[in-house]
Amino acid sequence: MANAQLRELMARGTALLGSDVAIICGAMSWVSERHLVSAVSNAGGFGLIACGAMTPELLDAEITATKAMTDKPFGVNLITMHPQLLDLIAICGKHGVTHIVLAGGLPPKGSIEAIKENGAKVICFAPALALAKKLIRSGVDALIIEGMEAGGHIGPVATSVLAQEILPVLASEIPIFVAGGIGHGDMIAAYLEMGAAGVQLGSRFVCATESIAHPDFKKAFLRGNARDAITSVQIDPRLPVIPVRALKNAGTEAFTAKQREVAQMLDEGKVDMAAAQLEIEHYWAGALRRAVIDGDVENGSLMAGQSVGMVTKEQPAAEIISELVEQANKALSAR
Ligand SMILES: Cc1cc2nc3c(=O)[nH]c(=O)nc-3n(C[C@H](O)[C@H](O)[C@H](O)COP(=O)(O)O)c2cc1C
Repeated sequence: MANAQLRELMARGTALLGSDVAIICGAMSWVSERHLVSAVSNAGGFGLIACGAMTPELLDAEITATKAMTDKPFGVNLITMHPQLLDLIAICGKHGVTHIVLAGGLPPKGSIEAIKENGAKVICFAPALALAKKLIRSGVDALIIEGMEAGGHIGPVATSVLAQEILPVLASEIPIFVAGGIGHGDMIAAYLEMGAAGVQLGSRFVCATESIAHPDFKKAFLRGNARDAITSVQIDPRLPVIPVRALKNAGTEAFTAKQREVAQMLDEGKVDMAAAQLEIEHYWAGALRRAVIDGDVENGSLMAGQSVGMVTKEQPAAEIISELVEQANKALSAR
């Protein structure tokens, strides 16, 4: 496992997470459920349940099931725009969930406080330096900086640029995890040397043996190259859609059609802007389920990061983690 140098570089991350290595398997809607989460945590990494659009009852059941499969620490990723965010936080509190990641925008008033009252740690995504400082002031315990190489919903800036802008300024103040475009241990070593406390990877774990993703979804990942993981295009300037990175398929075109339909609903006054944007988010949730669970890899959404090109085989989560750790060990020893 991790050599002395790597252990030292990851020390703040492992202390915060309570895991053996500071490698988080980023929450992936429909993919990051009990099987993958427990496999990653049992292997010494840190698993995150993707709550996505789950109801509080479903999240309750998922946490119970995950606890039955691992006694290692794991966390829950909650989307800030979920209408029942506070109920979901309460469910996590009931189960004594130790870490909550808030994704999808700045945390609404009261959410950080509610999580801390339950004694859990709060981790938030920081899309820019100024917002990272603001989040630190609001009391978050750690930050994730995620660049546009990542799979799923993304921001406009590359991981390497965010890392240069944020790590030198804030890494000594708070543990920061770097995400987006990481597929090899060399990159993990490099971000740790820049001051990161750890890393978060998504795409690399999709083809874990324990991942319940449909075999055809996994096949698309095994075939996909970096250049196939492209971002969605906004077609109407009035309808700002958060870009999504996914493997190109017929679903890519269907999203263009969906935007036209929603833009027309806006024109006709049938929906307001908030409802229009929610309509778009529901579209993605449905499209991702169609691909991940039903295996419709033509029409569903194949959310994937550019690191998809480094996914070469189906292998147990423990093997993925030990491969990454060995690569990081080797990179550091060669310095
Ligand atoms: C299929 C898929 C679904 C995702 N769903 C979510 C999600 O529900 N919530 C979230 O915060 N991030 C989500 N992400 C982002 C990942 O958690 C992670 O940050 C990202 O994959 C890191 O970039 P990488 O794919 O290059 O490793 C998703 C990514 C993928 C590939």
